[in-house]
Amino acid sequence: MQIDILTLFPEMFQGPFSTGLFQRAVSRGLVSVELHNIREYTHDRHRTVDDYPYGGGAGMILKPEPIFEAVEALQVDWSTREKAETPVVLLTPQGHPFSQQIARKLSEHPRLILLCGRYEGVDERVREHLVTEEISIGDYVIGGGELAAMVVVDAVVRLLPGVLGSEDSSEDDSHTAGLLEYPHYTRPPVFRGWSVPDVLVSGDHSRIAGWRHEQSIIRTLERRPDLLDRAELCVRDEELIERLKQPH
Ligand code: ADE
Repeated sequence: MQIDILTLFPEMFQGPFSTGLFQRAVSRGLVSVELHNIREYTHDRHRTVDDYPYGGGAGMILKPEPIFEAVEALQVDWSTREKAETPVVLLTPQGHPFSQQIARKLSEHPRLILLCGRYEGVDERVREHLVTEEISIGDYVIGGGELAAMVVVDAVVRLLPGVLGSEDSSEDDSHTAGLLEYPHYTRPPVFRGWSVPDVLVSGDHSRIAGWRHEQSIIRTLERRPDLLDRAELCVRDEELIERLKQPH
């Protein structure tokens, strides 16, 4: 997968993109990320990327020309189909709430363009005529789209085939099946008098799978009951939820 990120602060990405899983994915050729400084697509002496809002009001707005030019420079050799099918994602607090489902959809594209908003926002013509989707990482405002882009890239890259080893696949992750993940334990079997649940050391894989699934449901009901409405549940799961909801 090729990911192009348009930003005013490419240096912000250095740390997160040069460590761990991400770095491994890059060195194995599973993903390639290119950072493009929007300021390099300005032509005036002051390299102006923002301006006052028409109609007045606080804050500055990112101008449309350098952003259009930066995206179009990437697309010069693309076919009409590539242009039509490649998401151009704007990171903004006004966007669609980011989710595992959106991460999965994005991970199915061979290319992504991410555009990091800044200041009060971007000129509306960028949203209307260039951007194909808008994503928010939560109902709060951060200094700009860069941290949000890192979150999106991290969530997408770990879903690419070959990035996670089979032993730490994403299948059981929280949110993959619409549920939170079950609790984990490692050695020692008893720590300060607190024991690992017997079932996990029983060696009975089908019992372990059953326990884990049940724990996922219990945990989701306790912490994020809103997720259960959209989760993939079987009749036995529904029965368990009904039982758990009864007063003890
Ligand atoms: N830029 C500022 N706040 C943001 C948010 N919550 N999500 C995405 N981009 C942002």
